[in-house]
Amino acid sequence: MTLLLLAAMTIMPFNDGWEFQRKGDRCWSATSVPHDAAYGMPLSRKEDHDHGFVPSPETRYRKSFARPAGEGRFSLKFDGVYMDSQVFVNGCLAGGRRNGYVPFEVPLENLIDTNVVEVLCRAPSPNTRWYAGVGILRDVWLVRRKGWTLEPESVAVTTELRGDGSAVVRVKVDGAKVVQPTDGELMVDNPALWTPETPNLHWLSVTVENASGERDTVRIRYGIRSIEFTKDRGLVLNGKRYRIKGMCQHDTFGAFGAAFNMPELTRQLAALKDLGANAIRTAHNPFAPQFYDLCDEMGFLVMDEMFDQWNVPKTKFGYARFFADCWRDDLSAIVRRDRNHPCVVMWSIGNEIRDQCGGAEGGALTRKMVDLVHTLDPTRPVTSGLHVPAAAYTNGVIDALDVVGLNYNAQWYAKLKGNKPIVGSETAPSLADRDTYLFEEKDGRMVPVQAQGHRECAYSPKAFAWAAPAEEALRVQMDSPWSAGEFAWCTFDYLGEPNHTGRTGKGYWPARSSYWGVCDLAGLPKDRFYLYKSLWNDSVRTVHLMPDWTHPGCEGKVFPVWCYTNAKEAELFLNGRSQGVRRFADTPDLHLSWDVAYEPGVVEVRARYVDGSVAVGRRETAGPVAKIRRTKIFESGGVSYFRFDAVDAKGVRVISCEKPVTFEVRGGEFLCGVSGSTTDHTPFTSRTRHLFRGSIVVAVRGASACPEVIGMQ
Ligand code: GAL
Repeated sequence: MTLLLLAAMTIMPFNDGWEFQRKGDRCWSATSVPHDAAYGMPLSRKEDHDHGFVPSPETRYRKSFARPAGEGRFSLKFDGVYMDSQVFVNGCLAGGRRNGYVPFEVPLENLIDTNVVEVLCRAPSPNTRWYAGVGILRDVWLVRRKGWTLEPESVAVTTELRGDGSAVVRVKVDGAKVVQPTDGELMVDNPALWTPETPNLHWLSVTVENASGERDTVRIRYGIRSIEFTKDRGLVLNGKRYRIKGMCQHDTFGAFGAAFNMPELTRQLAALKDLGANAIRTAHNPFAPQFYDLCDEMGFLVMDEMFDQWNVPKTKFGYARFFADCWRDDLSAIVRRDRNHPCVVMWSIGNEIRDQCGGAEGGALTRKMVDLVHTLDPTRPVTSGLHVPAAAYTNGVIDALDVVGLNYNAQWYAKLKGNKPIVGSETAPSLADRDTYLFEEKDGRMVPVQAQGHRECAYSPKAFAWAAPAEEALRVQMDSPWSAGEFAWCTFDYLGEPNHTGRTGKGYWPARSSYWGVCDLAGLPKDRFYLYKSLWNDSVRTVHLMPDWTHPGCEGKVFPVWCYTNAKEAELFLNGRSQGVRRFADTPDLHLSWDVAYEPGVVEVRARYVDGSVAVGRRETAGPVAKIRRTKIFESGGVSYFRFDAVDAKGVRVISCEKPVTFEVRGGEFLCGVSGSTTDHTPFTSRTRHLFRGSIVVAVRGASACPEVIGMQ
């Protein structure tokens, strides 16, 4: 819900002029917030691998501020402090929140001329299953209320589409009478509807009156759309069947850490649009408010997820410690915060919740949570990502849910057919490093192997026992038209959860980030990105060929050459000689493939579309590195992203080059560099860093900032 606050309430940023001190630090350091105090700390093998081997120290923040000018009641609003926070104003405890992802306010009372606010953040490891950081991870606001105030979260705007093409917009406000629009209703003829493809938004001015006759007004942004999750046709959006092509995403910002970062979020969502995704699951906690605004604007359906653990813990110091006392307040706060966003199409009360895998208490608790959500928002269904549906089937969990969320468990799509609405809340994780092609030779054939050391193969030949390879998971959706669609795991590699099959007996070290993304930690696409793109993005032609074509010493050996494309068929040429035509009509695979005896030169694929047109993809054998090529790949909020690639004299990428490179920035500030390697421990802020598979991404701030390579070893 984007709001423009008028009369009684004003909010001002309170992000600058803070200091922080981690337990063990000698001094306080200046910072602005959002801020992640764990970011940049040295990795240690003794730390929790799920937290990326990064410590999570208890951290204090403080800020002095003058008594705000003007009349009114003042408070501080925190969009999210990770976690178990306490806020002290002039030495007295004024509030706090256990849950690090839920907003809260603390009153500012008895202010003096110069005041001090202190915030204590306690997130001992292990507290979550991925890198969560620690600190004031989201914005802080100074709020002033004068007189009686309409609280924005108490407003609920709902829309109903009518058969004659008009829409009714209804406004309800807890504890007050709606004066404007009259009787809390507004008729809109021929409304511009909200869909991911046409994210039309509208503003509504809402005026209310309380029992004493005092009035207040807010303007609320909303969208007009209808949603229905059905047993047989999946999601029906604005009266039409709509397939969810979604990705799961963590609320962290790759090489920038866990503090909210608008340019990086914008870049993440732009990558998802390019992929052709139309939906995002907030795995496994509510995101910062700006995320929902951006999803409204860019057009993404959101599964707004609340918890990764209830009473039964997954980590020793996780939210389970607080769940029993806090879940009602936390869940209510998020539903009230997010319910006017058209992007939010369902609530998820949990991910792989262990309480749901046992007896009837799991079902009863699920029912309580579903009922609470229904009272606050009767318009959206409630789901939960189930990893043990067999238990949930018998203990009342599935009965209580509006939509069954299936994490993996492909066989359950058929079992639940016609029984309940279903969505693939999590599908298909495959492990891969970008541009990494690992083979074992067998009788002259190069056979992809999943792992060598800490590297995982881009063909992802082997999935974990509980999962399915991406193509298989996509097929399950194609064969289950009664499912609403899927949320694949996951968009970007993230810090932490470095699980991989090439682990040694001693664990995952030195891998510090995950391998599951369709993009690596640098945001660069892996080959699997193009699998999804070829199926999900029909506004562009995708013709992507793998593997790389530089294999010295492998002459004559037979390589599997794959093409991800949205064409109907393709012909492959090796140095101009046809290797045959392949058609999707002849294969159950979602890629086309050829066995090709290696010789240096060019492999080129000519993909033919249904309309007879042709698009080409190619790979070429690289020579020695001739230069490092710079390409600007994204810009947002004053931050520019540049990709650097080692290339030969003809401009062909040399993916074997992993040399250290030093950067200098003209006209701006170096923010971070990230290669996508899961095992590179060089601080992201270091200007000298290794390429990985011939590439690296550098982010800089400044309108005309431009990074340059000033040295390569
Ligand atoms: C899922 C889990 C995710 C992530 C994923 C890795 O079971 O819900 O949070 O751990 O596995 O594949």
